[in-house]
Amino acid sequence: MSFDFDSVVDRRDTDSLKWSRYRGTDVISMWLADMDFRAPEPVLEALRRRVEHGVFGYARPPEELTHVVIERMTQKYQWRVKPSWIVWLPGLVPALHAACRAFAEDGDEVVTFTPIYPPFLSAPLLSRKRLRTIPLRRQQNLYTFDAERLESEISSRSRVLLLCNPHNPVGRRYERDELRRVAETCIAHDMVLCSDEIHCDLILDGGPHVPTATLSEEIAARTITLMAPSKTFNIPGLNCAFAIIQNEGLRRRFKRAREGIVPGVNALGFAAALAAYRDCEPWRLALIEYLRGNKDIVYRFINEQVPRLSMDDVQATYLAWIDATGLGLSNPREFFEAAGVSLCGGAHFGAEGYVRLNFACPRAILTEALDRLKHAVTTLADSP
Ligand SMILES: Cc1ncc(COP(=O)(O)O)c(C=O)c1O
Repeated sequence: MSFDFDSVVDRRDTDSLKWSRYRGTDVISMWLADMDFRAPEPVLEALRRRVEHGVFGYARPPEELTHVVIERMTQKYQWRVKPSWIVWLPGLVPALHAACRAFAEDGDEVVTFTPIYPPFLSAPLLSRKRLRTIPLRRQQNLYTFDAERLESEISSRSRVLLLCNPHNPVGRRYERDELRRVAETCIAHDMVLCSDEIHCDLILDGGPHVPTATLSEEIAARTITLMAPSKTFNIPGLNCAFAIIQNEGLRRRFKRAREGIVPGVNALGFAAALAAYRDCEPWRLALIEYLRGNKDIVYRFINEQVPRLSMDDVQATYLAWIDATGLGLSNPREFFEAAGVSLCGGAHFGAEGYVRLNFACPRAILTEALDRLKHAVTTLADSP
């Protein structure tokens, strides 16, 4: 079966968060983490059918969706999830906030590894917790956890570890041993592990994704896992996600923290999620092939053709984390935007001088954007 990822869909006049700020301009938008591809046809068909029904009352999770998620966990990870462990959510950012509120008292510490997706940095503070950041360590051109530093910096007030696997923005798919080391530190310090695995179906290097909770029973008992079909099937605006929480006590506290504040999932979100997980595996596999091709282009271009920029390999996600510190600019994001490419600035992730590029777009757009980056950097190098 063939799928079309090459056609350009104009999103500038669709109230897209990613594109609407560039309405009427020629800027290529690559800052936000959604894809420029249409969702798979079975998802579109499920939505058409649901819209045709015409009634949009409060929704509850379709039984088949719960069944499909459980099947998926069994098949992909040999992880036997019970229906009661699943907590449906309209997004994973609210889950990060709920985790900070559920498992730590005011003034307690929430720990995370930087650079990191910005809500990992803001959720603890907005939840009146202290934030402790542990920089990832770079080893053989890949980032990894600094387990020694984690061990030495954790305090008696550290209660929650927010983990991102695969990791936005550095694109790591963590190995079993790396995860185990961090999880064991959480056990030793009696911390709850909140493992955001939203990018788990976007593995580009062929390796396995290891859900943290599958490492051992002891680790599962203190882990809350966050997943969603949103990134993979390009339906993040439909707001359907879920947590898997095996430990009944943790689940109760988590549910209480979100009660009355976090709304339920809407009918369209459930319909899209079911079709995505049940009917779209061939589309997902084709998407991975396409993204892998895009990743290879970005990786080679940035490292071989653009002076003073570099990036590591991207094992997972559709995000390239580019080291632009060599440019010596105070704000590389602004510099690239002026050159016609909108990237996400590294400062939001806790790493000034870096930029994040979303390569989930038609290849023609990607190559145009890369040419613009090269031209801007070359012109800068040539200027007095
Ligand atoms: C690691 C991670 N978690 C959560 C989200 C957003 O989740 P949601 O849209 O479900 O709130 C993103 C979006 O980029 C992400 O990269």
